[in-house]
Amino acid sequence: MRDHRFVIAGLGNVGRRLLELVLRQEDLLARRHGLRLRCVGASDSSGALADPAGLSLARLAEVKRRGGRLSELGPVAPPLELFERVETDVFLEATPTDLKTGGIALPLTRRALERGIDTVVASKGPLVLHFDALAALSDLRAEGLPGLRFSGAVGSALPTFNLGRRDLAGAEIEQLEGILNLTSQMLLGAMTAGQSYEEALAEARRLGTVEANPALDVGGWDAANKLVILANAVLGIPAQLEDVTVRGIEAVQPEQLAQARNGGTQVTLLASAVRDPGVSLGYRLSVTPTVLAPEHPLSRIGPKAKGITYLAPPFGEVTAISRSEDASGASAAMLRDVIELATR
Ligand SMILES: NC(=O)c1ccc[n+]([C@@H]2O[C@H](COP(=O)([O-])OP(=O)(O)OC[C@H]3O[C@@H](n4cnc5c(N)ncnc54)[C@H](OP(=O)(O)O)[C@@H]3O)[C@@H](O)[C@H]2O)c1
Repeated sequence: MRDHRFVIAGLGNVGRRLLELVLRQEDLLARRHGLRLRCVGASDSSGALADPAGLSLARLAEVKRRGGRLSELGPVAPPLELFERVETDVFLEATPTDLKTGGIALPLTRRALERGIDTVVASKGPLVLHFDALAALSDLRAEGLPGLRFSGAVGSALPTFNLGRRDLAGAEIEQLEGILNLTSQMLLGAMTAGQSYEEALAEARRLGTVEANPALDVGGWDAANKLVILANAVLGIPAQLEDVTVRGIEAVQPEQLAQARNGGTQVTLLASAVRDPGVSLGYRLSVTPTVLAPEHPLSRIGPKAKGITYLAPPFGEVTAISRSEDASGASAAMLRDVIELATR
């Protein structure tokens, strides 16, 4: 049995659920992976706590579940100082996504990698803005450098990065198509079924699946961010957000809804990268409302699913679909990355 120490920044929906998941899966982690995960540092917006002997996961989760702050549990330090105060095997980042500056996630991620610490990132800001610089500090560029993983940021439970990078190794990826934003998929499912955009949005808000400002989801920007990260990480191209043609679901045409309804499918917000030697990046990148042909593997996945299809000869067409009612998808994706890095 190996003791594996971790430090976590951000104990909101994702970070707190990750602590709960580690507690719930304690036996399985020991039995199947020979790992005992020990939290030696944690931070929220009130500051950071550290204890080389281990912080109580149950206590941390309980405080955050009731909306409390870590500063209630003892004297806190600035989150960036955690790496000086305690040694860790892996750093987990689950702070708010900031697409202008990268937020606190950027210096935390950079500092962890520079100190040689394996790092698992949930927020998209650092990856969208500085993928190349972060990759250069990690095993994505050279063996022997610390691991950098982010499957929580690019699809959560849906395996996008591992599938493209590991399982299609040695193949030229001709095309990537993904339904990567669940909120849009749910709204488009409702609209295809006959609800108006406003009705569908109000219904999704009632169910609690939409942000107070839904522009990132319905405007196509969340899917575009994920596409940019996958383009860098899997296709190996230095894509940026401005390289993606983005049209959100407000651009859906009535004839698309009718076409989907008649075909027994739904309109989807499709993120795609299509190989094209005629463009400077080598791929055309877009996010746009699309009616998929009935024989397309993602055409009938339904309104509560995400999916990705790679076209990669000689593997041919390879598809993954995830459908889950469990809100722990992003946390589970982070745990999967931790296990992969710990057992390399
Ligand atoms: N929610 C999802 O299903 C999902 C899926 C995939 C990826 N993500 C990404 O995962 C990240 C976390 O999402 P979330 O839903 O858990 O967000 P959240 O509920 O808003 O939680 C953010 C956490 O970060 C903490 N925080 C804020 N500023 C901080 C700082 N300077 N230092 C340390 N901690 C700080 C907050 O502290 P307080 O608790 O004190 O406010 C909170 O605990 C985001 O980047 C999001 O885009 C989320």
